[in-house]
Amino acid sequence: MSVIEKTRVEFEPVKPEVGSIVRAERAALFDPEVVRQCREMLNDRVVLVFPKVNFTDAEQLAFTDLLGGRLNLTSDATTDKQEDVYQVTLDKKINRAPEYVLGTFFWHMDGLPVETAPPAATLLSARKLAPKGGQTEFSNTLAAYEHLPEAEKAALDDLRVVHTVAASLRPIADLIPEADKGKLQIGVPKEHPLVRTRKDGRKSLVIGSTADTVVGMEVAHGRALLARLVEWAGQPAFTYRHEWQDGDFVIWDNRTAMHRVIPYDSDCGRMMHRTSIAAED
Ligand SMILES: [Fe+2]
Repeated sequence: MSVIEKTRVEFEPVKPEVGSIVRAERAALFDPEVVRQCREMLNDRVVLVFPKVNFTDAEQLAFTDLLGGRLNLTSDATTDKQEDVYQVTLDKKINRAPEYVLGTFFWHMDGLPVETAPPAATLLSARKLAPKGGQTEFSNTLAAYEHLPEAEKAALDDLRVVHTVAASLRPIADLIPEADKGKLQIGVPKEHPLVRTRKDGRKSLVIGSTADTVVGMEVAHGRALLARLVEWAGQPAFTYRHEWQDGDFVIWDNRTAMHRVIPYDSDCGRMMHRTSIAAED
């Protein structure tokens, strides 16, 4: 695959179906034309990696604002110092609700149980790496959908799925103290189409750990279908595992990518700073 050269920025594919590395001068990342090219590439490649750019929070927010409409997906349970920047960490001194971060060990899309439409993108800066584990994996759910047999696509196209926080915490629900069980019930369940159709006609699966039930289907049947689709989308051809280095900045289209983190030690101090782009349609 050839390297695509554009003004002041180059995009180098990582895998045939997913991911590109962005090569640009640091200052060029704040050029609206460069950001526009990043958006275009994100649409197609789903994940963009900016190696070692070492953004400050202010720079990350500035880039976020150039990319789209900023969404506050922070949590009251964290001691976020900068508005709209969520500190992703298992450190109990900073995050009083680390179970939500344990939930990120499982394939998911951000914001589905709390937003009426999937947030458009997530942006993540590496601030402190885990010595072991902590890689982030991404799955391109455009490619996953497009490679399904035609008959199966047709069977999925009109289905709707209820997303809940409780579903996303189900694998670790027995670890949550009895007094905190109320956390499983936060928010109002949100319904999203199982198959999302973009303006350009391309379709993707909207799936992951928050997907609880399929509307109109027996619960067990629906959950089996959802689990099978996540397994399908998680196969190596559709996924990319990012090995973080200090200062890396990675962004992904949250409407067409699932992500998860490889487990890491709760006490290792791993810290990522996350910003989000709001739904656009
Ligand atoms: Fe996430």
